[in-house]
Amino acid sequence: MTVVGVLAAGGSGERLGSDRPKAFVVCAGRPLYEWSVDVLREVCERVLVAVPDGYADPPDHVAGGNSRSASVRNALAAAPEATIAVVHDAARPLVTAELVRRCVEAVDHGADGAIAAARVTDTVHAVGRDGLIAATPDRASLWAAQTPQVFRADLLRLALDVSEEALAAATDDAALVRAAGGRVRVVEAPRENMKVTTPADLRVVESVLC
Ligand code: CTP
Ligand code: MG
Repeated sequence: MTVVGVLAAGGSGERLGSDRPKAFVVCAGRPLYEWSVDVLREVCERVLVAVPDGYADPPDHVAGGNSRSASVRNALAAAPEATIAVVHDAARPLVTAELVRRCVEAVDHGADGAIAAARVTDTVHAVGRDGLIAATPDRASLWAAQTPQVFRADLLRLALDVSEEALAAATDDAALVRAAGGRVRVVEAPRENMKVTTPADLRVVESVLC
């Protein structure tokens, strides 16, 4: 088993609105993405980082793509030795090695994929274009997907071998792997494994990491 980490750090961070891409914004004294690299290195033999244009100099930095999934595909292509791929977003710096290990173990025990996810605690409504509630799915079956998302690498490569449009439409890798026929489990994760999207999120994460 060769476990390789793929860190998606190739986004621009529009909603954060900083002077540089989100993954390179300084958070608690270092670029945001480095917090995740350190954690992934505890579990993975190698960690590849998909980065925006102009940030691809160091050896393990790979040019990202036009969408998150295209970035994951590009980084995974640089790791042909991988049998297990650990995909993680640089935007979730509070990830723990324990959570990564639990996902890897689920795949090692036979799942095609295992993703960190948290039970949804809010009621979720599907709302039509007219602004009216059209459906209210049973909350008991709803989970909010996070990263890490861990997959058999051969299946993830197959799942990512689709058009740029299909990659851009996918909001996570689990959906692509499932569309390719894979069985993907959820691993219950703390809501604290939060994603930095806005300046307010960055302040919360920074206060935890300091
Ligand atoms: N990402 C990536 N390549 C892209 C787009 C996103 O690797 N072409 C990464 C981001 O760097 C981030 C993760 O995917 O770590 C989750 O994406 P998101 O939170 O949406 O980050 P950004 O796309 O950078 O932010 P925004 O959507 O606000 O521009
Ligand atoms: Mg984005």
